[in-house]
Amino acid sequence: LDLPWMELPPRPKLFDFHGVSMTKCFTDNWDNVQNVKARPDDILIATYPKAGTTWVSQILDLLYFGQTSPERQSSIPIHMRVPFLDLCRPSQPTGKDLVDQLPTSPRLIKSHLPVQFVPKSFWEQNCRIVYVARNAKDTAVSYFHFGRMNMFQPEPGEWSSFLQHFIQGEVVFGSWYDHVRGWWEKKQTHSKLHYMFYEDLIEDTGREIDRLCSFLGLSPSAEERERIRGAVQFDNMKKNKMTNYSTVPSMDLKVSSFIRKGKVGDWKNHFTVAQSEQFDEDYKKKMKNTTLQFRTEI
Ligand code: A3P
Repeated sequence: LDLPWMELPPRPKLFDFHGVSMTKCFTDNWDNVQNVKARPDDILIATYPKAGTTWVSQILDLLYFGQTSPERQSSIPIHMRVPFLDLCRPSQPTGKDLVDQLPTSPRLIKSHLPVQFVPKSFWEQNCRIVYVARNAKDTAVSYFHFGRMNMFQPEPGEWSSFLQHFIQGEVVFGSWYDHVRGWWEKKQTHSKLHYMFYEDLIEDTGREIDRLCSFLGLSPSAEERERIRGAVQFDNMKKNKMTNYSTVPSMDLKVSSFIRKGKVGDWKNHFTVAQSEQFDEDYKKKMKNTTLQFRTEI
């Protein structure tokens, strides 16, 4: 069978951008992103990649618009409902364009930027920010599989070498350690920052939805809250074409699903004992002098 020859885009390369590893996809539109005009009711969903961004985005979208415009969730993919501000790819609307065109109020906006790169308008407008953090080892594993399936990520190579790059912060959006710590410090001064954990969402999604609601000043009915809790369960989001990224051609779901395993502790299936020991030793150094604690025991 003769198939037409198709050229895959070359994988982007990492480079140092003001002390953070980045690719062109996230720096080409830098000035426009930095000049975004935030609105006081904008909600920024900020995360280090693979922390559960899509999960929390879907929860927020359902909380705000599930009742008033249910067709939205059934017909618009999550990356269009909650645009990724930082993103810029050839011949596609930029994340900034999508944010500018969002018809909703409030606007839900996704970003992976480390805290020092957040456009100043979000602080000037005193916007609400939801930050989601996930334990380092599971984040590394999830990021590795994401790199395998997403043509716009640098080639991750073998697990063992990817892990060393992750430890060194040589992955897109830089050091996990700097990211989670930087945002944690910001929380001490920006009262409109809700810092939440993937592990807590796994443990009790309903409780975390309640916490989000009290942060956002929302009070859904018990029935609505239960409906949302059910809709965002792993299996439902995995089979939902509007949340599983099956509509995005640059992601090869045959290599790995975007909504992949959704577990706490999958790192145990990837790390060798030696890798885990090396990781833990380095972790202690990088995470000392912080009150930020991850609960990885569940
Ligand atoms: P895994 O690769 O460990 O499965 P992000 O949206 O920030 O890119 O994060 C993706 C990670 O969140 C993936 O982790 C994905 O499976 C997980 N995830 C997405 N939706 C989820 C859900 N409803 N429940 C649990 N995990 C979910």
